[in-house]
Amino acid sequence: MLSDTHCHLDFPDYDKDRLEVIQRARDSGIKLIINVGSDIEHSIAAVSLADEFDFIYACVGIHPHDAKTYSEDTLSQLKELIKKPKVVGMGEIGLDYFRNLSPKDVQIDLFNKILSMARESNLPVVIHSRQAQIDTIKILKDHAQGGLLTGVVHCFSGDELFLKECLELGLNISFTCNITYKKASNLREFVKLCPVEKILLETDSPFLPPEGKRGTRNEPGNVSFLAKAISEIKNIDYEMVNRITFENACRLFSISS
Ligand code: NI
Repeated sequence: MLSDTHCHLDFPDYDKDRLEVIQRARDSGIKLIINVGSDIEHSIAAVSLADEFDFIYACVGIHPHDAKTYSEDTLSQLKELIKKPKVVGMGEIGLDYFRNLSPKDVQIDLFNKILSMARESNLPVVIHSRQAQIDTIKILKDHAQGGLLTGVVHCFSGDELFLKECLELGLNISFTCNITYKKASNLREFVKLCPVEKILLETDSPFLPPEGKRGTRNEPGNVSFLAKAISEIKNIDYEMVNRITFENACRLFSISS
């Protein structure tokens, strides 16, 4: 009962063998995939992919890297997309001050706008935050004041305080296969600190393949490496990790399990 709550199967990386990748995911026991949009074009592609496969769902949003591309028009396109039946959340959205591919003020403005849209529509958000934890938490706290803020902080990075504050806001935390990297002892520490009831599994494919496969294209089937690592770190039975994280995902994204 594995789940991959964050991947980008619509990326051109899979143009040659998308069906095989999805079949391998099914064969490996994955029961749920959430394909996350990164801009309007990719959000539309995520929705079409979800329409083709019963176990694939979509989130729509604009990644902070692409914040500079947004306009009133793209926002109204998002508003239309969230009406589609297989759209279960908005993302990925957030702040990235590590690569800073869009100006900070534009990233903040867009993050606020999509958070408001998600809250009005009662949808959970998929948050990307890299080297921006102070601004991220400030904005999330503002939005959480009215209640109704639900979501997941994806590919968790940051420090212990950030982890605690996200958990206090009721957010879920998703880890990727990068917790298997030799030097990632800090991430494994965060896995220990995070209650399993708040953890989601994700690959962020095509990125971040597990240790032993680094330098190759990642795919949802590899989520088992992550589940195994979490099972070892938290000393919880592997099948139990899969089941609990699957249920966590279904609860957050309102998917009937
Ligand atoms: Ni991603």
